[in-house]
Amino acid sequence: MLLLLLLRLMMLQLPFLLHTFATIAIEIIMSLGEIQLNYYSESCPNAEEIVKDEVIRLYHKHGNTAVSWIRTLFHDCMVKSCDASILLESINGIESEKTSPRNMGMRNFKYINTIKDALERSCPVTVSCADIVALSARDAVVLLGGPRIEMKTGRKDSKESHLAEIDDLLPNHNDSMMYVLSRFQSVGIDVEGTVALLGAHSVGRVHCVNIVDRLYPAVDPTLDPTYAEYLKRRCPHPEPDPNAVEYARNDLQTPMTLDNMYYKNIMNNKGLLLVDQQLVSSPATSSFVENMAANNDYFHEQFSKALLTLSENNPLSEKDGEVRRDCRFVNSD
Ligand code: HEM
Ligand SMILES: *[C@@H]1O[C@H](CO)[C@@H](O)[C@H](O)[C@H]1NC(C)=O
Repeated sequence: MLLLLLLRLMMLQLPFLLHTFATIAIEIIMSLGEIQLNYYSESCPNAEEIVKDEVIRLYHKHGNTAVSWIRTLFHDCMVKSCDASILLESINGIESEKTSPRNMGMRNFKYINTIKDALERSCPVTVSCADIVALSARDAVVLLGGPRIEMKTGRKDSKESHLAEIDDLLPNHNDSMMYVLSRFQSVGIDVEGTVALLGAHSVGRVHCVNIVDRLYPAVDPTLDPTYAEYLKRRCPHPEPDPNAVEYARNDLQTPMTLDNMYYKNIMNNKGLLLVDQQLVSSPATSSFVENMAANNDYFHEQFSKALLTLSENNPLSEKDGEVRRDCRFVNSD
């Protein structure tokens, strides 16, 4: 008798229960950022073409823009999410991530606006700045002689800056390899992938502040002596002014090519940063370094895979993010 009553009660509640389940399911779906291939195929069919054309145009004017886009992806995606938080300026209680010492030396941000302007002319407030960060890096990799990578789109832009969390999330130039590996692990990138991503240091430059610890007061004995002489010429001051434009190039032979020269260099004790050097000296990574030094295709394959994983880190949902009108500021409405 009691059982029957209970059953009846449940029957009466069924529509309500179903409705609750459906609501919960929708909530869960809404809270996951959904990215997919060709996200803009209907809303802005030329989006990826427009980004690519601008990236190519900028590269022919200022080759180092391409180098910047690759670093920008890392510094955006590693810090919580690929959400273009790195692009925000300090204003109205927002303190820009650009002010963090970890982001020192980052450049060419103004040309992100050039890309955004081109998109806005064709498709106003449609393509997110986070997707510009991802796609520009993808296209830059090709211009620098790296692999072609298929990337999803549909990322949303953050409404806040993550300046306070940067030091905990973005490795420093002198962190231990154990720590570096654990940071990459936390975003789903394994040891092999981490070794491949650091191959990005095959292009670009390093300011003297990030090198002098290896030169003064005594030269790091793991540095090739001739190379150390070159570095001391580039960085003559033990305590350089952090704002001085004093830097050394990552790869002297092929400074504008994303190739495996980086691994050959570090195996010859010509790594710039302590983390670069540690890839060779730490047992967890050294065999991958050797394999990448021996085979450029293998490096490119692993680099593609790891960059893709990085570019898909924790996308924001529709309700947590937005599509910024201007990549430097959150929307005012
Ligand atoms: C443990 C990880 C890493 C550390 C500690 C690190 C640190 C640094 C530092 C200190 C610089 C020099 C900045 C300057 O003085 O101007 C630099 C440059 C650069 N990094 Fe990394 N990096 C790491 C991983 C990566 C990854 C994963 C990428 C991209 C996939 C990347 C891309 C670049 C590029 C392209 C440059 C040259 C930037 C330019 O010339 O404007 N780095 N990195
Ligand atoms: C790493 O370098 C920073 C400066 O970039 C310095 O403040 C810090 O003391 C260094 N850490 C170690 C362990 O040497």
